[in-house]
Amino acid sequence: MDKSKQEQIFFEIHTDLPREGPGNFKSTKAAFSFLTELPEKPVILDIGCGPGKQTFDLAKISNSIITAIDNHHAYIDRLNKKASDQNISSRVTGKVGDMNNLQFEEHSFDIIWAEGSIYLMGIGKALSLWKKFLKPNGYIVFSELCWFKDDRPDEIENYWLSNYGEIKTIDSIVKFLSNTDYKFIGSYVLPDNAWWDDYYTPLTNRINDLKKKYSNDPEATQVLENESLEMEMHKKYSAYYGYSFFVVKNILYYHNSKYK
Ligand SMILES: C[S@@+](CC[C@H](N)C(=O)[O-])C[C@H]1O[C@@H](n2cnc3c(N)ncnc32)[C@H](O)[C@@H]1O
Repeated sequence: MDKSKQEQIFFEIHTDLPREGPGNFKSTKAAFSFLTELPEKPVILDIGCGPGKQTFDLAKISNSIITAIDNHHAYIDRLNKKASDQNISSRVTGKVGDMNNLQFEEHSFDIIWAEGSIYLMGIGKALSLWKKFLKPNGYIVFSELCWFKDDRPDEIENYWLSNYGEIKTIDSIVKFLSNTDYKFIGSYVLPDNAWWDDYYTPLTNRINDLKKKYSNDPEATQVLENESLEMEMHKKYSAYYGYSFFVVKNILYYHNSKYK
């Protein structure tokens, strides 16, 4: 199949879905509850915000001022419209931006939030590049795909190794975080319904509609089957992998009279 058709179908699958990764209000709230001694109006940078579900959840959970960035213009336009419709544009602003090349003043944020997006850079690179944008004692909160068990059936092992070879166990991520110059604060495994409520259920409905639309198109059907496979894997093997939040803190210290 030519690439533009594949892109067109991908676009049809993913346009206007509530989320682009696992998560729900309860999980965002549970991760937020790890954060202590925050200022009255925490300043948050939500990186890879996508359609912005967690952005608006964060605005509900806290009295925060949020900048949400994504490199996909359509998400940002939609997020800014929603903020304006809800009369919270003074608190929630979307900006097109690249997580690899953030354009903010140093020490601007109390919290950097990255739900289902840190994998695009890798945890190690993200933590070292984003650190300078955090205020002293600020937090980075991110969610990431993880193995729950050391022994996995071949089918799911091979599925994820070919789709996301960087997947690690929760323990090995915690160990990694404990050896950075952040303080590891905690982790929180997303419950199974956080995969389905706002993510896999609307995605499955969309794919089923498109399967009807493209029932006479074997190439399109193949793309849709490939997307469905992820959900099938999850139904079968959710005991072996899932998503977890991780929370780290930028412990204040001075180096040559400067914050590091
Ligand atoms: C898996 S989605 C997660 C979206 C959202 N946080 C959620 O949970 O629904 C990852 C998001 O990262 C965005 N993205 C990809 N590369 C990026 C980059 N270099 N800079 C900023 N955002 C990026 C994508 O457009 C997408 O919206």
